[in-house]
Amino acid sequence: MFEIALQDNGLELSIQGEVAYFNYFWLRDNCETSWDIVTQERTFDILSEADDLYPVSAEVDDDFLEVLWCDGHQSRYALQWLKRWHKGEKHGDLAVRTRKSWHGDHYASMARFNYTEVMLAASSVADWAEAMLDDGIALIQGMPNSEEALQSLCEKFGVVRPSFSGYAFDVYSKANPENLAYTSKALELHTDLPAEELAPGIQFLHCRTNDAEGGQSLFVDANAVANALKQQYPQYFTILSEYQVPFRYTTKHQDVRAKQPIIELDPNNGEVSGINFSQHLADIFDFPQRDMDLFYPAFRKFGKMLQDPTYLMTFRLNAGECIVFDNHRIAHGRASYMEGSGARHLRGCYVDRGELRSTYRVLRAQHPVVVCPPAWEQLDTDAPVLAQVS
Ligand SMILES: [Fe+2]
Repeated sequence: MFEIALQDNGLELSIQGEVAYFNYFWLRDNCETSWDIVTQERTFDILSEADDLYPVSAEVDDDFLEVLWCDGHQSRYALQWLKRWHKGEKHGDLAVRTRKSWHGDHYASMARFNYTEVMLAASSVADWAEAMLDDGIALIQGMPNSEEALQSLCEKFGVVRPSFSGYAFDVYSKANPENLAYTSKALELHTDLPAEELAPGIQFLHCRTNDAEGGQSLFVDANAVANALKQQYPQYFTILSEYQVPFRYTTKHQDVRAKQPIIELDPNNGEVSGINFSQHLADIFDFPQRDMDLFYPAFRKFGKMLQDPTYLMTFRLNAGECIVFDNHRIAHGRASYMEGSGARHLRGCYVDRGELRSTYRVLRAQHPVVVCPPAWEQLDTDAPVLAQVS
């Protein structure tokens, strides 16, 4: 037996012993006729409804709430569907996954994929995207030594996202370099382009040639370091997540500036969601001088923790490999290499994090993870179990 009470702005409905309230505008807005069947976009315009929208009648019939509106429109809602929304339950999202922290010894267990495999198998791209969401880094091996290979790989996640360097950039030693990356000098740990309002999300670095002596690649899971800082030095963590730090990049034709916190927090849950860290692109800090007494110890402690071998992963990137990492989570750098000892050429580009998450949602839904139950549970059936991935 269902009881319905029509009130001024909404109706109360008893569902399985619980009284659930639904706003009239919300109900009308989400009538199943509001959506275009093909595009799944809302075609109904709630702004065109009268201010005093109300139902003439509402009743439950065969597990559906049926509403007749004052303008004669009829809506039908499954009770099971309504039950989900009355407490304000958030949308589920396959791409919201728990980040797995890693330390300096991660190289041996770093997720690895083969170029040909990810070009041919969508399930492999789903696994790669999952590794990116969980670990923030993965290695693609077997890359062809061509200009196009990098773009083809990036497009498995989404469209290439240009930066002020263009659609792609080449890193090698050259005369009159516009930044340190184009020399053989060491590159301190950093994230790319915090001077841009929206710093690039996912970075791809395709090693085309590496015959040089030295030039080891350095990577750190900065989320792991930021969380350690939060535990050990909570006051430093607060400072680095609150102060808006000025970053700047200038050339003859560009003057790119943005203010970013060193540690980014997820507004939904307050957890660390990324970092912005680049001493090359940090502008003169413009806080009141007394605040420098607080800021510099925090900034220096965090920077030194990033360099700590406990967290720092060091390895040689070989020709034919492409390292792919979350530029907001993974700080990267390079040891110096000996000029003239051999050629070293990396080609890079970026894709937004939103593109990665979108690709993951689509591909993981199409290619769910199959988990085989333990042997003793297979006595009754040999069928694999589809894992709950939401
Ligand atoms: Fe970089």
